[in-house]
Amino acid sequence: MRWIGLAGLAVIALLAWGYWGGWGEPAVRQPIEFPHKAHLELKDPKFECTTCHDRAEKGPVAGRPSTKKCLSCHSGGKAKSAEEKKIQAFGEKGGDIPWKRVWRLPSHVFFSHRTHVAVAKVKCQTCHGPMETLARPPARALKKLAMDACIGCHEKWEWPQETKEKETKEEEAKPVKVAGARRVSIDCNACHR
Ligand code: HEC
Ligand code: HEC
Ligand code: HEC
Ligand code: HEC
Ligand code: HEC
Repeated sequence: MRWIGLAGLAVIALLAWGYWGGWGEPAVRQPIEFPHKAHLELKDPKFECTTCHDRAEKGPVAGRPSTKKCLSCHSGGKAKSAEEKKIQAFGEKGGDIPWKRVWRLPSHVFFSHRTHVAVAKVKCQTCHGPMETLARPPARALKKLAMDACIGCHEKWEWPQETKEKETKEEEAKPVKVAGARRVSIDCNACHR
């Protein structure tokens, strides 16, 4: 009897280890082995990050492409791979491919893509790492920002162009700390609403 208990424990420990991906967070498995790399290397059509994640310029969430968009290239004739077969099956069922999130902020933190992508023009990779190098979906976020990293950028941020040019003219082209320029908020309640 005793050995069953021990073996059972070992199995549970191993399963837990696998599920939690070692000491980290649980590994995410996506429904389709989507390779960012293959798509971002295409010449025609040439994809930008926002070709697929187009909501990033418009609102809080970046979003995922519709199944229809995938099918515009991955349908017609016989599926060339198991993955293509799955895309077509999702298409026939209608509705979206059930992609899972790999990075999610705690619910007490507010974040909007639009502000960062369209207004501040921060590159996706600054926050997400080199997604364009991935041959398959990441099991965990390549990169995450903790509170210090968010605040670090807000504190140091300098708006380019207008305000700065004006200032440099007056002070004869010294690198400037732009007085009176709009600072980026580091108030707790800017992010915690
Ligand atoms: C052809 C469409 C397409 C293009 C182009 C594309 N993506 Fe994606 N992206 C996806 C799909 C589909 C997923 C979900 C599967 C996955 O994680 O790989 C995804 C997932 C992601 C995620 C994971 C989000 C999370 O935390 O859950 C990030 C980050 C991301 N993409 C960033 C980028 C960046 C940065 C670029 C440009 C370098 C880019 N994507 C270009 C389709 C695309
Ligand atoms: C503009 C056309 C285009 C769009 C849109 C597109 N792909 Fe692709 N995809 C390609 C090309 C080209 C390749 C690389 C050649 C190949 O292996 O078929 C590829 C490769 C793949 C592969 C690896 C090869 C395989 O068949 O297993 C997967 C998986 C895939 N795409 C899934 C998707 C998904 C999911 C979407 C929607 C989020 C999508 N693609 C959108 C053109 C496209
Ligand atoms: C200033 C940092 C920052 C930049 C720049 C940024 N992201 Fe994000 N992204 C985040 C954070 C933080 C999350 C998690 C948000 C949450 O949980 O509410 C996220 C989540 C995502 C997700 C998954 C959830 C969703 O919103 O759909 C995708 C996909 C994504 N980002 C793609 C992109 C793409 C593509 C770009 C560039 C066009 C981009 N991001 C630029 C910080 C950033
Ligand atoms: C690389 C620089 C950079 C990083 C990293 C960054 N931000 Fe920002 N953020 C900005 C800039 C610039 C603005 C100001 C935009 C404006 O005033 O229009 C801003 C504005 C904001 C705002 C207020 C405007 C709004 O969207 O309502 C919030 C909230 C915010 N960021 C949250 C975050 C969080 C949370 C993170 C970390 C997950 C983060 N930011 C990471 C540059 C950054
Ligand atoms: C620029 C955005 C931003 C500002 C400003 C900000 N926070 Fe945060 N805060 C975050 C993010 C993002 C997280 C989640 C970090 C994570 O998931 O690792 C967080 C997490 C936290 C947590 C949860 C514990 C933890 O470390 O995860 C507390 C408590 C907190 N913040 C308090 C504060 C207080 C107090 C202030 C003002 C002095 C503040 N925050 C200002 C973005 C911000």
